[in-house]
Amino acid sequence: MGNLADCQKLENTFSIKLVIFCDLAPLCAKYNQMKETDFTKVKPYNQDEEKTAQLARMFNTISGKYDQFNDIMTWGLARSWRKSSLLALKKFEPKQILDIAAGTGDMCIKSYKFLNPEHVTGVDISDKMLEMGRFKIEKAGLSDKIDLEVQDVASLTFADACFDAATIAFGIRNFEKLNDSLKQIHRVLRPAGHLLILEMNEPEKGILFKGYQLYTKVFVKLTSRLLSSDTEAYDYLQASMHAFPNGERLINILSENGFKLNKYRKFTFGVCSMYLVEKV
Ligand SMILES: C[S@@+](CC[C@H](N)C(=O)[O-])C[C@H]1O[C@@H](n2cnc3c(N)ncnc32)[C@H](O)[C@@H]1O
Repeated sequence: MGNLADCQKLENTFSIKLVIFCDLAPLCAKYNQMKETDFTKVKPYNQDEEKTAQLARMFNTISGKYDQFNDIMTWGLARSWRKSSLLALKKFEPKQILDIAAGTGDMCIKSYKFLNPEHVTGVDISDKMLEMGRFKIEKAGLSDKIDLEVQDVASLTFADACFDAATIAFGIRNFEKLNDSLKQIHRVLRPAGHLLILEMNEPEKGILFKGYQLYTKVFVKLTSRLLSSDTEAYDYLQASMHAFPNGERLINILSENGFKLNKYRKFTFGVCSMYLVEKV
């Protein structure tokens, strides 16, 4: 059992058949082992190619099914998590908002609706995800209020201090260069500007964790296989969630990159967390 890919293959082969009947402890142990893995090494397709390039390809492939899969993976709760987290920004009245890893545009549209800024700019590495986003933005009649651009968060082209707030929903765990990305976000935010992060994570150990494992390993896995032939993409989404540092660990990384914590909140038994931090 040499590496993460082997672990995932073994698990793919056996988990659906065995998980219903067996104790989940061995799988949990294997996942815990993966948790020690550097999350940047959790890649969708192979270990040789850069993670960002693989991700752009992967999200391009699944862009047409992403919204459906997101609803399945989050029990449809992602919509209310996005709304609740955005409301934490309301009192700061941001006028220029940058949405990073904008994907199919939901966070951009909700930002505009709930925060009433002058403008929202969304960036993402996947042009096909943004294409879906543009369609939704046009349908919402917001094409003159929201722009979408293909950009990697680790090398943003915007001027220094030009945004009042930045948001990242379900994107940060994909960033190949997390420190470079946070430095870029810090650079484009104005002094005391805010960064809002929303990210899925596994619940704490215990009965909830076991229920969650069953749900993801049986229901989500089977449904994703019905939705798309790119099964590696959906396996990646699960594995990356497992490997990404959350809670205290992420707060420390944010602090090392010049952000101080304003608010940390967990949603729905801790399966989703919101981090609101301020540029120091
Ligand atoms: C799970 S989707 C989230 C989409 C959207 N924010 C939402 O709320 O549903 C993650 C997105 O992160 C984007 N992404 C991954 N790495 C990125 C990077 N380095 N820079 C910008 N976007 C990135 C992917 O292309 C993908 O669209």
